[in-house]
Amino acid sequence: MKVALGCDHGGFELKQEVIKYLKENNIEFEDYGCYNTDSVDYPVYAKLVANAVVEKKADRGILICGTGIGISIAANKVKGIRAALCHDCFSAEATRLHNDANILAMGGRVVGPGLAVKIVDTFLNTEFSNDERHIRRISMIEE
Ligand code: RB5
Repeated sequence: MKVALGCDHGGFELKQEVIKYLKENNIEFEDYGCYNTDSVDYPVYAKLVANAVVEKKADRGILICGTGIGISIAANKVKGIRAALCHDCFSAEATRLHNDANILAMGGRVVGPGLAVKIVDTFLNTEFSNDERHIRRISMIEE
């Protein structure tokens, strides 16, 4: 499992917590920035991570901005990306089971580090159900 990470200034601090979790669990990752809290434009990092996932340089992506909203909207403009904004573990599990989401988005100004890491853990450790109805619905999104 390789994870592509990205954030803007609003997500930078929470991304450090996610990096700590990934290192502790020996999960390979690449950090596409940003690398400090200077103000930046979230679509830049959304596209870097989305392209890394689509080009199979990473299996999953994690994107963090202040709310998680802008960065997920931007990521979902890239064909083949299913970015899910999750601030609870139920949604993180369901979006893997039902939507085969390939990017998790979170808001660094919304969720605390303890919950965020549990959401990441759930997202990375839940496999797609492969149920026929979910495959059909996902293919309808792509059409
Ligand atoms: C940046 O201030 C903020 O707008 C951004 O992090 C994000 O919340 C946008 O959706």
